[in-house]
Amino acid sequence: MEKDKRPGFYITTPIYYVNARPHIGHAYTTIVCDAIARRKRMLGFDTFLLTGTDEHGQKIERSAAAAGKTPRQFADEVSGLFRGLFERMNISNNDFIRTTEPRHERGVQQLFRVLRENGYIYKGTYTGQYCVYDEMYIDTAEAGAKCPECGRPTETVSEENYYFKLSAFADKLLKYFEDHPEFIRPETRRNEVIAFVRGGLRDLSISRSTFKWGIPVPDDPKHIVYVWLDALSNYCTAVGYGSDDPGERKKFETYWPADVHMIGKEIIRFHCVYWPAFLMAAGLPLPKAVIAHGWLLFEENKMSKSRGNIVRAETVIDVLGNDALRYFLLREIVFGQDGSFSFDAVVQRYNSDLANDLGNLASRTLTMISRYFNGSVPYPSPTVAHKDADDAIKRQAQSVIADFAQLFDDYQFSRAIECAWSLIGTVNKYLVEQEPWVVAEKEGEENKSRLATILYTAAEALRIVTALAHPVLPESTAKIWHQLGLGEISRLDLQTLQWGQLPLGGKLGKVEPVFPRADKSAIERMQTMEQERNAPAPPTTTPASSATPSTATPSPAAPSPVTPGAAGAVPATVAVATPAPAGDGKISIDDFLKVELRVGQVKFAEKVKGADKLLRLEVDIGTEVRQLVAGIALAYEPEALIGRKVVIVANLKPRKLRGLESNGMIVAASVGEDGKPVLAGFLEDVPVGAKLK
Ligand code: MSP
Repeated sequence: MEKDKRPGFYITTPIYYVNARPHIGHAYTTIVCDAIARRKRMLGFDTFLLTGTDEHGQKIERSAAAAGKTPRQFADEVSGLFRGLFERMNISNNDFIRTTEPRHERGVQQLFRVLRENGYIYKGTYTGQYCVYDEMYIDTAEAGAKCPECGRPTETVSEENYYFKLSAFADKLLKYFEDHPEFIRPETRRNEVIAFVRGGLRDLSISRSTFKWGIPVPDDPKHIVYVWLDALSNYCTAVGYGSDDPGERKKFETYWPADVHMIGKEIIRFHCVYWPAFLMAAGLPLPKAVIAHGWLLFEENKMSKSRGNIVRAETVIDVLGNDALRYFLLREIVFGQDGSFSFDAVVQRYNSDLANDLGNLASRTLTMISRYFNGSVPYPSPTVAHKDADDAIKRQAQSVIADFAQLFDDYQFSRAIECAWSLIGTVNKYLVEQEPWVVAEKEGEENKSRLATILYTAAEALRIVTALAHPVLPESTAKIWHQLGLGEISRLDLQTLQWGQLPLGGKLGKVEPVFPRADKSAIERMQTMEQERNAPAPPTTTPASSATPSTATPSPAAPSPVTPGAAGAVPATVAVATPAPAGDGKISIDDFLKVELRVGQVKFAEKVKGADKLLRLEVDIGTEVRQLVAGIALAYEPEALIGRKVVIVANLKPRKLRGLESNGMIVAASVGEDGKPVLAGFLEDVPVGAKLK
């Protein structure tokens, strides 16, 4: 086979931990990488996009145990969820690596051997603090201290380990950062890393020996490789490092070093200090750039399982489609900074920028060409019916092609999109001013020529915007491209894109709306879907323990991420901020006492319209009658509840469900595989309003 002459481009996402189901934060990084990869392919690069899952380590071992599964079963299930989601999102990854695959395990052992042979590994004993959530040694912390990264309690670890001579790399790293200013982006992160390295580097423990779920250290299988050395190596093992197969070796030569490691800002140290030091020690070239983006916040906090404020990508995709989610994340979030996610904002962006701006431009332009020119791209008139306004569009389009490229390739996605949309705005205005529908009513050749020029100009601008936006909106731009009669958009060569390439006389495809408007119910639908899906599994033990805050804020290690919450039995619990339980899943009595549990009596109950699982309840809690919305409709008929005494968490922040305010949570056990809710109650008679403690 002839060697591929195209320049290579290798981009990676972080590999995602399988301790929790994927959420929109994971989707964000993956979408950003996918958009970059798609643009590079359109520019003619031999592009390789890698994603995958990070499956070893103590955190996963504990999560699996808590879910009553073996680590492998657990990892298989959650990794499958990530893979399934990315397929559904139409992510164009060339590979999906799992750290439990033999090709990866072999590569990690190979790297370990090379580091050892090169004299950078020695045996020692680590006694100090460890954060299981971040899988990070915190050797400066005292026993009992909290993790400086995530605030969770650290655990004291004392074990025999292999150490990596990280301290030998401080000067080399600093020199590398100086010689390669483009290595870490953005600048603030670069400065942070430089300051960290200048502060001094201690040797790093790179093996664990007190648990089993990991890759055995070669020739000493009592030890397993530290999960971050294991995980970071994926970037090499996925493209053939450690393989004997000549094809795989060739692949490694072709793609390594990676052009971009895209990551969230919280894992910069692992990627910009440990990883380059490992590579230097192994004599391998370093990646060209590590780019750190900010966090997606929901209700002001980083989305995370332990905060219970997770939004799933599927929710937005189900209601508005893949492109709506991609557009929102790339347009609304200023890349590199933290940004807020809200359903209102997604719908607003969708309606204004996609349905209104791009959707309108496409549908009115193409519909008029169909109507007035029988669906063939009209010939613009170079002379008689030509106006300055037409030239202005052409000029703007040419500069948008150049500006978009510069901004997008500089990771300024929001500004790049804004720039393309400025052309849409201008053309929509041009159509209003030129009134082709009025010109069409007039007789004569000159008017016919004028109409042709206006519609050609609009269609050509539409073609250019569609081509530029393709990496951001792959599905809808492919449809518009077909409607323009241009066939497969993936064949387009973006490098040669310029004004005037729309084939004259070309036949349009079938013209159909691409972005149907979303009405207000879209927001409510997404909120309800999320609350129903997100409801943490209610307690399955006794009613008394069922009311502890750990039901409202799952411990990082406790709940099964795979089994869905109990049919939304306690939907009002989402996003309640309570202190994170200790690493062993225990909370203090003070934390427990923050939860106000009361006996209530159901005064009224009815089904919530359009929501199979929800009941609206009015519950007397002694001091007042509260409205609650609870996901118990599949288990209880409303009439059967009237007069029944129940246990209520009375001090939860109110939440809206299907537009109804829910003031508290009803306590239920979750029974059986499908988590059927069974309400907590009492054998003895208890007065309404009595407190539980
Ligand atoms: N497994 C490690 C990475 C190893 S890479 C060799 C890990 N996994 S993770 O699942 O916790 O998160 C990985 C990435 O998901 C983050 O770096 C970030 O890119 C993305 N995000 C997770 N939550 C996010 C937000 N709330 N917002 C934006 N991105 C988020 O760390």
